[in-house]
Amino acid sequence: MGRVAYVNGRFAPHGQAVVHIEDRGYQMADAVYEVWALFDGRLADAEGHFVRLERSLLELAIDMPMSRKALTIVLKEAVRRNRIREGLVYLQVSRGVAPRDHAFPTTPVPPAVVITVSAVDRAASDARAAQGVGVITTPENRWGRCDIKTVGLLPNALAKQKARAAGAAEAWFVDELGFVTEGASSNAWILDQDGVLRTRDTNANILRGITRRTLLQVIAEEGLKLDERPFTPQDALAAREAFITSAGNIVQPVVSVDGKPVAHGRPGPVATKLRRLYIERAKATAI
Ligand SMILES: Cc1ncc(COP(=O)(O)O)c(C=O)c1O
Repeated sequence: MGRVAYVNGRFAPHGQAVVHIEDRGYQMADAVYEVWALFDGRLADAEGHFVRLERSLLELAIDMPMSRKALTIVLKEAVRRNRIREGLVYLQVSRGVAPRDHAFPTTPVPPAVVITVSAVDRAASDARAAQGVGVITTPENRWGRCDIKTVGLLPNALAKQKARAAGAAEAWFVDELGFVTEGASSNAWILDQDGVLRTRDTNANILRGITRRTLLQVIAEEGLKLDERPFTPQDALAAREAFITSAGNIVQPVVSVDGKPVAHGRPGPVATKLRRLYIERAKATAI
């Protein structure tokens, strides 16, 4: 059986699933999204992603398309129909379909919902984590509301492509003061020279990563030193370790920045341990 997508109340074969040409998500990026990691067919960090979804929708004054309970049932049904155990679940909610006009539709339209499920090769992901990846840096050129998980991802896509062209896995945006904000699709971390875990605070213009949030709990439980303070690419190069977090990457060690090695150019013990602890916790709490 092939992949199946959910579009506005119906399941359809992945290749035939379509949205309307006047979907405001398609025409204006007037939409938000969420991504859950799937462990053994269950949604990791479910609550955190629902909370952020509701917040993103509220910020854009788009209605929640259905209750959290109903959405959970639909997401799980999408997972079941795709027969995927290890993977990612993608949900997009747009303002809906309306004649093209920059302002919101005056007659209310129902939000449009798309769900897809894709498989992840966990063994390959673990092998990648054992090797570590490179990141590049790029000037921050996104808008002032990166805290909303919108589908307005053109700067992120361009940055990711720049990373790929340089043989790196991720691009770190750097603000006008020279500090790393976050990655194109992940949050950025270092273990600094003093053994303190550093990641930018979420008052700044960054996405409040759910993996980041859960990892903060793990870090507190482990009694590790933490400072939610920005760092520069130079700080990362002088650090003991660096890593990125997201539902897709989980915890992925970073071994180079702009082609220069971080520490010995190998994944460090703290990032490796945090990856293991996050996965254990995600598996234990996934729904
Ligand atoms: C820009 C950006 N920052 C951070 C993250 C990490 O968020 P999460 O841990 O909720 O996946 C993502 C995830 O896609 C992202 O796109």
